Amino acid sequence: MVRRLWSDGVLLAVLIACVWWPLATGGAPGGASKARVDLRSPKYLHYKQEYRRNLLSNGLGVTPPMGWNSWNHFACAVNETIIRETADAMVSTGLSKLGYEYVNIDDCWAEIARDYNGNLVAKNTTFPSGIKALADYVHGKGLKLGIYSDAGYFTCSKTMPGSLRREEQDAKTFASWGIDYLKYDNCNNDGTKPTVRYPIMTRALMKAGRPIFFSLCEWGDLHPALWGAKLGNSWRTTNDISDTWDSIMSRADLNEPYAELARPGGWNDPDMLEIGNGGMMKHEYVVHFSIWAISKAPLLLGCDIRNLDKDTAEIISNKEVIAVNQDSLGIQAKKVRSEGDQEVWAGPLTGYRVAVLLVNRGTYRYTVIAHWDDIGLPLDTVVEARDIWEHKTLKNTFVRNITATVDAHSCKMYILKPVS
Ligand code: GAL
Repeated sequence: MVRRLWSDGVLLAVLIACVWWPLATGGAPGGASKARVDLRSPKYLHYKQEYRRNLLSNGLGVTPPMGWNSWNHFACAVNETIIRETADAMVSTGLSKLGYEYVNIDDCWAEIARDYNGNLVAKNTTFPSGIKALADYVHGKGLKLGIYSDAGYFTCSKTMPGSLRREEQDAKTFASWGIDYLKYDNCNNDGTKPTVRYPIMTRALMKAGRPIFFSLCEWGDLHPALWGAKLGNSWRTTNDISDTWDSIMSRADLNEPYAELARPGGWNDPDMLEIGNGGMMKHEYVVHFSIWAISKAPLLLGCDIRNLDKDTAEIISNKEVIAVNQDSLGIQAKKVRSEGDQEVWAGPLTGYRVAVLLVNRGTYRYTVIAHWDDIGLPLDTVVEARDIWEHKTLKNTFVRNITATVDAHSCKMYILKPVS
């Protein structure tokens, strides 16, 4: 609200300076008359529109991004062989056909020193062929290449420079290499707010001559959901995830209150997936994937997809769950009810359908009920329910509620489709 008043105040000042003042002082566009100015007139609308213009209009992220990122599994031990083999695996495993397209290099890919002209340089020992060659390779597979930098002097690992005060130069470098996605971190900065430093990179990317998905990684410190949509295609709402049940569930909780601020072109990001990294049980990873999918979170795999085990492949390849994430309505589900450890998450889908997730966070089996008035269906709606982990449409139809017995640390996920 304060922000709104503030921005409206600035808008008014801009309008007064640009429109009223020249008119009142005789320097008006189209004449020296001192006629009263109606700022609501369509004639002046473009000033307003110009002021409110989104800094970022790259047309990307119409649905949440899907792909892979090196950090969760490899951290600083990433190299070009891993990136090439990951791109190969993305295609050979069939993941690319399911929509996974970005292959993203995280921290530690560059030399600590820039070159003679101040350009970033790929680390010679780990990326000897350079990033352009890697981008060509990844593009040759029909995929996209992402990279990582930081709105500070050094990245979080401190093994390479950040882009602070080099935004335009680095954005141009990324574009010239053929980069398609930039994750922009927040470490080792100059102490100014992210709302000062991030827009500089947004503008630089818009000028760089290539559409680059812009992922703000500010960890949720300054509620980026409130300002991120004008600057980026996604914004982290949490600090770093780890491969444990408590970590994924707390990240889900931190991300959920911002549900209404997600929309096509700009998504809340509760961090990358840990499925397949070995720290959790299969049913827990199923909950992880389900919550990320229904929350319209970026689906960025974080395991070694060159060596997928059967369970991991099954979870991340579930077409019906992916379709919930990629539904064109782009509305993030909310946790509509929680009673103790039992939770109901729900969100609308195209075609008057509703995605419902019944989660049992507890350590005993429980019955979980989703009531129509909680999930946004008129009470007398009769629905067909499709269990999208079992891949079965249930025999009965349902009215008023749907109930399931849910095991510990497990979930049931349905798509409800009105039949009356
Ligand atoms: C963190 C970020 C992680 C990863 C790491 C690299 O700040 O949240 O996702 O990018 O830096 O050092």
